[in-house]
Amino acid sequence: MRMYDVIYKKRQGMVLNKEEIEFFVTGYTNGTIPDYQASALMMAIYFNKMSKEETFYLTDAMMRSGDQIDLSQIEGIKVDKHSTGGVGDTTTLIVGPLVAACGVPVAKMSGRGLGHTGGTIDKLESIKGFHVEISNEEFLRNVNQIKLAVIGQSGDLAPADKKLYALRDVTATVDNISLIASSIMSKKLAAGANAILLDVKVGSGAFMKDFDSAVSLAMEMVEIGKAMGRETIAVLTDMDQPLGYAVGNSLEVQEAIEVLNNRGPEDLRTLCVKLASYMVLLAKKANTLAEAEATVIEMLDSGAALKKFKAFIQAQGGDLTAIDHPQQLPKARYKRNVVASVNGYIQSIKADDIGVAALSLGAGRETKDSTIDLAAGVMMYKKVGDLIKRGDVIAELHANNESKLDVANTTITNAITYSDRKVEKLKLIKAVVT
Ligand code: URA
Ligand code: CA
Repeated sequence: MRMYDVIYKKRQGMVLNKEEIEFFVTGYTNGTIPDYQASALMMAIYFNKMSKEETFYLTDAMMRSGDQIDLSQIEGIKVDKHSTGGVGDTTTLIVGPLVAACGVPVAKMSGRGLGHTGGTIDKLESIKGFHVEISNEEFLRNVNQIKLAVIGQSGDLAPADKKLYALRDVTATVDNISLIASSIMSKKLAAGANAILLDVKVGSGAFMKDFDSAVSLAMEMVEIGKAMGRETIAVLTDMDQPLGYAVGNSLEVQEAIEVLNNRGPEDLRTLCVKLASYMVLLAKKANTLAEAEATVIEMLDSGAALKKFKAFIQAQGGDLTAIDHPQQLPKARYKRNVVASVNGYIQSIKADDIGVAALSLGAGRETKDSTIDLAAGVMMYKKVGDLIKRGDVIAELHANNESKLDVANTTITNAITYSDRKVEKLKLIKAVVT
């Protein structure tokens, strides 16, 4: 088989077969197919799309391109959650302990943040001593005993996707639904869970800016998951404004502790309860969603979820003092309020720009190798639909470098539009695809 012929066939709008797709994935992973031929194929796919079968074969080949994690030593139905990425998305820190408290094993493989979206590992490292460098044995033991453990991404999980995603990123071929669906699902499937809950974010802070493309992506991913024999549900959730208030590592940990203490922002709490309920349902620890939700709320109310969070943090070396006294988490030297200069209802918030502001304060990585400032970030206190008076505090900036405050202040001020007329609040959960 020649790569030239595979590219030519796709360029002509024809459908590739299983052998051709496997030939490409294997060759690209081991380096016999060069970047320029892979780029040409990605562009041909971008213009001519892929059929459901092609998308399935691509996912399957990428899933098998490296390690596939074996979670069979963990008792029970393993459910994984994946968020397509958003701003201030603190859910994993809360949903993990919530479902673990319901008896569902959570074997979480997490990443670090890049660009304006944060990573769960960075956030957890705000807690002194916490680390994800544990052996596989320890990981499996912790999941069996505590029901919750977090480990870093294995170096060899879906390497084909790692290479291809980096290539797509620089060749303007990311935003094709089949390519995104196969990229996400190949990693999730290789990570070994029996069932998968997808949180597909929609809006200005998300990959998918509009509802219809988010639904298409959700449907493709659910279909792939099911075809692979894993029960899969997708929840479409709002990302037209940051979730909760906190955007930034230590700030988000503080916010998660607030929610686990049965306080904290309403939207974050509501979403976490909903996502956890679907996971409990997928794990067959409840017969209906309502039953699952009642159990989840009970875990929050009784403090069982907070207790689970502490057990998990302690097992991975974290200092629990900071959980009981969150003011001991990393704190920024400088704080500044972002103040409204107009009256009116908030009409829109460019969520991605709030993420960019947090990044510019030091909360994120500009490149893969930059270090992050765990204390930096933004507390975005206002939501779409809120009535604002001139002089109200809209947001609070946290930074260790005073010179960064001005730019972030301007970015946030410009990210918000106002209206004289009443504006509806945003709906948090937009649809569920099963
Ligand atoms: N996230 C991924 O992992 N892959 C994509 O293609 C897009 C978002
Ligand atoms: Ca948040």
